[in-house]
Amino acid sequence: MEEKLITTVPGTRDLLPDEISRWHLIEDRARQIFTRYGFLEIRTPIFEATELFARGVGEDTDIVGKEMYTFHDLSGRSISLRPENTAPVVRAYAQHAMHRGGGLTKLYYIGPMFRHEKKQKGRWRQFYQIGAEALGSDHPAIEAETIEMLLELLSSLGVRGELLLNSVGCGRCRPDYILLLRRELQHRTNDLCEDCRRRAETNALRVLDCKVRSCQPIVMQLPRITDHLCAECADHFRRLQGFLSDAGIGYGIVPRLVRGLDYYVRTAFEIVSGDLGAQNALVGGGRYDGLSEVLGGPRAQGFGFAMGLDRLVMLLPEDAGRDAGYRPGVFVAYLGEEAFGKGIAVARALRRRGVTCHLEFAGGSLKSQLRQANKLGAGHVVIIGDQELRRGRYLIRRMEDSVQWDVSMAELLEQLGAGGS
Ligand code: HAM
Repeated sequence: MEEKLITTVPGTRDLLPDEISRWHLIEDRARQIFTRYGFLEIRTPIFEATELFARGVGEDTDIVGKEMYTFHDLSGRSISLRPENTAPVVRAYAQHAMHRGGGLTKLYYIGPMFRHEKKQKGRWRQFYQIGAEALGSDHPAIEAETIEMLLELLSSLGVRGELLLNSVGCGRCRPDYILLLRRELQHRTNDLCEDCRRRAETNALRVLDCKVRSCQPIVMQLPRITDHLCAECADHFRRLQGFLSDAGIGYGIVPRLVRGLDYYVRTAFEIVSGDLGAQNALVGGGRYDGLSEVLGGPRAQGFGFAMGLDRLVMLLPEDAGRDAGYRPGVFVAYLGEEAFGKGIAVARALRRRGVTCHLEFAGGSLKSQLRQANKLGAGHVVIIGDQELRRGRYLIRRMEDSVQWDVSMAELLEQLGAGGS
């Protein structure tokens, strides 16, 4: 009986060699640009104590309340696959006392995140983020600089997005605003969707972010948080806008932008792209002063963002970065078993000299091997046949003009070894 093929779990997928060049292009570019701005890479575990996200991101958020992959490991600990990486990075910052050096700590990461969301175009259950976190400053200039770096990355990839900005206030001004929201929502509860009815009680700010159509007329009439900021938050927001304008960065202010994670204070932002469809958020970020303390760490301010790599890839042309893909410098063609042994030795010697070298273990006629070499875009083919074997010589064929010549092993290595022609 034939077994049924086992395939990927819904919401996950394989990234095949054909598309990986786009991923490499983005990752390489991000590493280059982020390093230039002083961000260093950090790699945190893919799973963490569930409590890290419950406390850090917030138990009432959709991400923690509904979407986490949580399980008990063999020692009975509650573990969650990370749904985001800001809380883990701040945990690492505190755990390794990175604040001790004083000044700014700038970290970036690239890796998979996990959320059990409804499947949709641009939405995966295992998805990838490139993120950056600047810890140790509450200055609005670090926000502008981080956003500038992010926009530089996008524009270097030819991607355009719209920067949407808001301030969600702080522990001093937000509670009063939430009371006001609740009061407004109290006599409208019957018109709200089921989620918003619950949110009105548990997390009223999130009502502003509701996408359900029937809630929109209510949401549009709610008071704007930007009209209820304390003097310090209003001043911070104004200064951020000044720094952005100085850098020539355009933005739109969206007072309903509140984001789905509880740790934000003051600045919250997104970059959206009209080319993405319904899931149009390419980047989300903001300020999270106080997150470190919530996790039991030192007092620390922070600002950062995460970009959806899967979504960014969708915006690049299919062949972006393709040149960097596999293209052998030399293809070794052979005829017969004995020549095959020689072929292995030639490939080994060339690879040791830094040459990308291809050998087809299926063999086949010379014609079919040359066709394959052509398909792969090889620069040269080394041909080993009976005649060559007998004479201890090799034939080199230059693919661009089909010119062939006869060489010894030493000449072959000299001519084709890295640095040769
Ligand atoms: P987030 O808005 O939840 O923020 O996610 C950031 C980005 O990750 C989104 O804009 C989107 O591009 C991508 N993303 C999220 N969920 C999915 C999914 N299911 N499939 C594909 N892409 C997805 C955060 O995660 C915060 N940690 C950002 C941050 C960093 N804030 C401060 N520092």
